Amino acid sequence: MKRYADIHCHMLPGVDDGAIDMETTMQMLEISYQEGARAIVFTPHYEGGNNQYQPAELEENYQMLKEKAAKMWPDLELYLGNELLYEQGIEEYVKDGSVHPMHQTKYVLVEFNVRISYQELYHAMQKMQKIRFRPIIAHVERYHCLTKHPERIAELCEMGVYLQMNMTSVLGNVFNENTRWCRKLLKEKRISFLGTDAHDTRHRSPYTGESMKWLEKHLEAEYLENILWKYPMKMLENKYLEI
Ligand SMILES: [Fe+2]
Repeated sequence: MKRYADIHCHMLPGVDDGAIDMETTMQMLEISYQEGARAIVFTPHYEGGNNQYQPAELEENYQMLKEKAAKMWPDLELYLGNELLYEQGIEEYVKDGSVHPMHQTKYVLVEFNVRISYQELYHAMQKMQKIRFRPIIAHVERYHCLTKHPERIAELCEMGVYLQMNMTSVLGNVFNENTRWCRKLLKEKRISFLGTDAHDTRHRSPYTGESMKWLEKHLEAEYLENILWKYPMKMLENKYLEI
């Protein structure tokens, strides 16, 4: 079993479309722990005016869970962040502190509409950097404007944008184009972070076993250790990550 950090998931109880209650949360944490997770960043959706919670409630919810979980899994570290859905002007929410960056660092997890244009995505990343935050693109494999555009991926990496991939995206048939694209991104070391993006215990669960088998078989051991543990730890310490 390999130790890993899950930097993207929806396990906080009752705050978004993730875990519906504390029981589900605890089951999801148990699965994660058994799979090898030793650090988890909760990243509930942040959708501008559509959030089902107040930022302060999130903090309370997280602190309560942290205390409860510490008794069950003393060596499991839990952190709080948000998955920020991009829309025009969203950097204001980051600047005024409404959004939780990853464990109060300068790293922010950002997701987009899957049909966003490359131009808009690129400018959004520039804006985040302008206010001195370090954006991480959530599940980079989803956006149509990036799929099969290695030159755009390269451009984003060169400008210092970090890419997160969902672990299960490496699974699938070798003839599946999306699976092949995801594997290529990993083999070319374009990905800095992995996450489960788990929402429940069934269809979008935090199981990682099958994905981990692929990762261990096909990636260089040092790079795998970096994305599973070292980079997330550096990020959570707010250290600059040179990729
Ligand atoms: Fe997510």
